[in-house]
Amino acid sequence: MDARIASGWIKRTSVTLAIAAFAAPPTQSQEDLPIRNCTWCHGSSAQGLDGAPRLAGQRAQYIERQLESFRDHSRDNPASKQYMWGATARLSSAMAQGFAHYFASLPAEPADDGDSSLVAAGKRMYEEGVPDANIVSCIVCHGPKGEGFEGIPRLGGLSYAYTKNRLEQWREGYHASARPMPLVARAMTAKEIAALASYLSFLK
Ligand code: HEC
Ligand code: HEC
Repeated sequence: MDARIASGWIKRTSVTLAIAAFAAPPTQSQEDLPIRNCTWCHGSSAQGLDGAPRLAGQRAQYIERQLESFRDHSRDNPASKQYMWGATARLSSAMAQGFAHYFASLPAEPADDGDSSLVAAGKRMYEEGVPDANIVSCIVCHGPKGEGFEGIPRLGGLSYAYTKNRLEQWREGYHASARPMPLVARAMTAKEIAALASYLSFLK
């Protein structure tokens, strides 16, 4: 081969290789993600279905951390054990990241399924806590609209039953690694949990 042609060929080849390397994403590309493996439980638009919570609009960093906690079994409440340990057993970190960014990008709709007579009490607790009972306010971490921040999850519009279960199960000692929530939930009464979960289901 003529030296000039050969060097041209090498140049073109290395350009192609460089493009290929650039195009290969560091995370799983969204077209390849088996989204339906998740949405047949979490709902076709990921707004939540039965016991499976809404994933749409949840913080990517939080989703990734939960997937990790199912995989390492530190999120050990009964529903997680029954449904999510298996779903994450063979999930690579790249796929977990891909799912987290995909679901975070979807618009979140509120469940609106709490007890509306408890909303005012729930709002007061969310914003001010219950100083006498040693319950901190939620707003400082979860934000005025329950929108969350980085690894702190969005709570606004989560379903009543899901939020209620989460708080009850922390109080019972499950998923103890999810600091600070086990400590936050420890002092709550059933009535207070119902009020918070009701308020949050309507918040957007
Ligand atoms: C067989 C049903 C089922 C499948 C399949 C499933 N999930 Fe879940 N998922 C659940 C249930 C039920 C929960 C609630 C666990 C609990 O109550 O703590 C959950 C919880 C979660 C949570 C925690 C959300 C939060 O707000 O803390 C994430 C994240 C999640 N699933 C992501 C996924 C992803 C990603 C997939 C697909 C790879 C998937 N799930 C597949 C049923 C399922
Ligand atoms: C100091 C910050 C902080 C405060 C205060 C706080 N939270 Fe949290 N909350 C977190 C963090 C961080 C997580 C994620 C924990 C993990 O890693 O799993 C969380 C998770 C949650 C979840 C789980 C959401 C899901 O999708 O499963 C609920 C529900 C929740 N908090 C409710 C509350 C309520 C109600 C209050 C007020 C009574 C409150 N939090 C106060 C930081 C806080």
